[in-house]
Amino acid sequence: MGFPLNRSLHNSIRGSDMAGNEARKGRVEGKVALVIGASGGIGEGISKDFAKEGARVILADINFERAQKIAEEINQQYGPNRAIAIKVDVTNEKEVEEMVKKAVEAFGWIDIMVYSVGIVRAGSVKEMPLEDFELVTKINYTGYFLCVKHVARVMAEQHKRAPSRWMDIIQINSKSGLQGSYRNAAYAGSKFGGIGLTQSFALELLEDGIKVNAICPGNYFDGPLWSDPEKGLFIQYLKAGKVPGAKTVMDVRRYYESKVPMGRGCAIEDIMNAIYYVIEQKYETGQAIPVTGGQVMR
Ligand SMILES: NC(=O)c1ccc[n+]([C@@H]2O[C@H](COP(=O)([O-])OP(=O)(O)OC[C@H]3O[C@@H](n4cnc5c(N)ncnc54)[C@H](O)[C@@H]3O)[C@@H](O)[C@H]2O)c1
Repeated sequence: MGFPLNRSLHNSIRGSDMAGNEARKGRVEGKVALVIGASGGIGEGISKDFAKEGARVILADINFERAQKIAEEINQQYGPNRAIAIKVDVTNEKEVEEMVKKAVEAFGWIDIMVYSVGIVRAGSVKEMPLEDFELVTKINYTGYFLCVKHVARVMAEQHKRAPSRWMDIIQINSKSGLQGSYRNAAYAGSKFGGIGLTQSFALELLEDGIKVNAICPGNYFDGPLWSDPEKGLFIQYLKAGKVPGAKTVMDVRRYYESKVPMGRGCAIEDIMNAIYYVIEQKYETGQAIPVTGGQVMR
C-alpha cells in the first residue's frame, strides 16, 4: 500500500533526529497522533495533552462538530496546523479507510493511534435487547479491529521507511476489561474481547515496529459518559437498578467513589501517565495497564 512521503514527514523525522540537541522537548514532540473518539471526555483530554506535549493531532469522531471545536482550541493555543478534525463512524469500514487516508494526507505520518471510542448499554442479561448488545460489540470491539486494520497497514509501510522509529497503538479499554461488571455484560464482554485483540495484534505487529497496549481506567466521573444528565451512566445505572437503594444520581456517584480504595474517580492526568509509559517504554507490548486507584489489582 503506497502513501505520499510529504514535507511534514521529512520535517517530523528531522525533528526527532534532533531530539537530543534541543532545549525543551515535549513527551511526544514531533509525533503525529490519531485520536479516535476525540470528541469524548477522555479523547478530548488525551488530544489536548498530546498537543501540549508537542504532537500534531488528528481528532476523529462521529461527532464532527465537537472534534472540530476541540481542534480549533488546540490550534489557537499551540499555533496553526497542530490539529485537524475528521468525521468517522468506526462501524463503517469505508469511513475508517477514508479517515486513515485523510490523516496521512494531512500530516504525512501516524506515530500513535489511540482508540478511545466506546459506548455503554447497561442492563440485566435477562432484559437486554439484542440490538443493544450488538451495538456495543460493534462500536467497542469491531470498531477497534477496523481502525487497527487500516492504521497498521500504513504503519507497516512507515516501518520500512524508518525501521528504528517505534509506533504505538493504544486502546482505551476499561477496568471492566479485567473484571466482570454487574448488569453490564455487553460492555464488559466487548472490553475483555478488546484485550484479546490487543494481545494478538501486539504479537503480529511487532515485526512492523508497532507496540500495541491497552489502558484500563477506572471510572472517569467528570466526563459526559458518566455525567451527561440524559444519557450518562449515573442516570442509566439509576434507572437499571444497578445500585441497590440508590434514589438519586448523587447516590450512584457516592456508591462508585466508595468502591475505589483511593477514594476518587480517575483523572485525565492518571490516564496520560499510563499512555506516556507505554509510548516511552521500549521493552513492553500487549499489556493491559490498570489505572483504577487500587480498585482492580492484577
Ligand atoms: N468514562 C469512564 O469512566 C471510562 C472508564 C473506563 C474506560 N472508559 C473508556 O474510555 C473510552 C472513552 O470514554 P469517554 O468517557 O471519553 O466516553 P464519551 O462517551 O465521552 O466518548 C466516546 C466518544 O466516542 C464517540 N463515538 C461513539 N460512537 C462512535 C462511532 N460509531 N464512530 C466514531 N465515534 C464514535 C462519541 O461521539 C464520543 O465522542 C471508551 O472506550 C470507554 O469505554 C471510560
